[in-house]
Amino acid sequence: MNEWQGVIHHYREYLPVSDATPVVTLLEGNTPLLRAYWLEQQLGKGFEVYLKYEGTNPTCSFKDRGMTVAVSKAIEEGQKAVICASTGNTSASAAAYAARGGIICAVLIPKDAIALGKLAQALVHGATVIALRGNFDDALRLVREITEKYPIRLVNSINPHRIEGQKTASFEICDRLGSAPDFHCIPVGNAGNITAYWKGYKEYLQYKKIEYTPRMLGFQAAGAAPIVRGFPIEKPETIATAIRIGNPASWKKAENARDESGGIIDIVTDEEIMDAYKIIVSKEGIFCEPASAASVAGLMKQAQRGYFKKALQEKGKIKIVCTLTGHGLKDPDVAIKYSPPAIESSTNIDEVVEKIGLSNKL
Ligand code: F0G
Repeated sequence: MNEWQGVIHHYREYLPVSDATPVVTLLEGNTPLLRAYWLEQQLGKGFEVYLKYEGTNPTCSFKDRGMTVAVSKAIEEGQKAVICASTGNTSASAAAYAARGGIICAVLIPKDAIALGKLAQALVHGATVIALRGNFDDALRLVREITEKYPIRLVNSINPHRIEGQKTASFEICDRLGSAPDFHCIPVGNAGNITAYWKGYKEYLQYKKIEYTPRMLGFQAAGAAPIVRGFPIEKPETIATAIRIGNPASWKKAENARDESGGIIDIVTDEEIMDAYKIIVSKEGIFCEPASAASVAGLMKQAQRGYFKKALQEKGKIKIVCTLTGHGLKDPDVAIKYSPPAIESSTNIDEVVEKIGLSNKL
């Protein structure tokens, strides 16, 4: 059968699974890699930009790639329950895969600080949702402590199976492009995903599927940028709630990805994130969530600074992939707040035509 059957099936030889692993899948992965034509025009000659749109995963974020492996392995190892801390997407994914696998799921989320759609997902899939009077970093600390004391499996990205699954996004990009990109832009929160992508690229190089690896360009929100600033942020703040994290678990691994790849980890402001968000949704026609736009905001900022100049001179043309980590529908509040409002009208045709703006053209 040629139909897509999920990342474990497709990339089995690169993953820690065997015939004994009960595969819990919602057919995640195989996500679109879209050319960003409008962005390319803005950036100028030589830029070939692709958006890896992870919003088309079953729970609408990249977390599903890791969760299929983490939950399958937990069940293989006899676990009856999983738990995670989350800014929303991990909890949505854990809840769905636990439901699919027939095990219990508990999630700890910062109270009143996750996007509405993500909360709905965790609730609807039947997870026990604890709204913590604290932030993500508090939630992760608690979850670590709980899993040391109780028989419940941690499925945050400090679980290595999560990283294993998420590295398949790099494989897909290389399989599609026929090579690695020259640069890979990615938002950084708890820093699991940049770690996973870098692992994927390195493995593909090792298996001779690609001839070089990209420079990894990670971007943190200015109010939640511990790696860039060099110390944990006690009260992280950003409109991009998914990456509102002050003390990332994979801090060192993210620095490794940056240094080994010859890349950077930098800051983008909320304003730059929302400018990029508006471009992605209104010019490229792709609905991503605010945190996802940090990758494109970072690309635009670095391009403006001349970061790519040398590579452009050397190669003439450079391939850049930006990961759009999650779907825009997850955060309807931000989407509506940052868009022009709906215009109310009576059922009178003249009024409707006028309000559409057609009447003065007739
Ligand atoms: N983008 C989105 C939409 C996310 O949900 C996350 C992380 C990131 C980017 C950053 O990825 O943490 O691997 O560096 N969300 C986690 C969660 C923390 O709980 O859903 P990262």
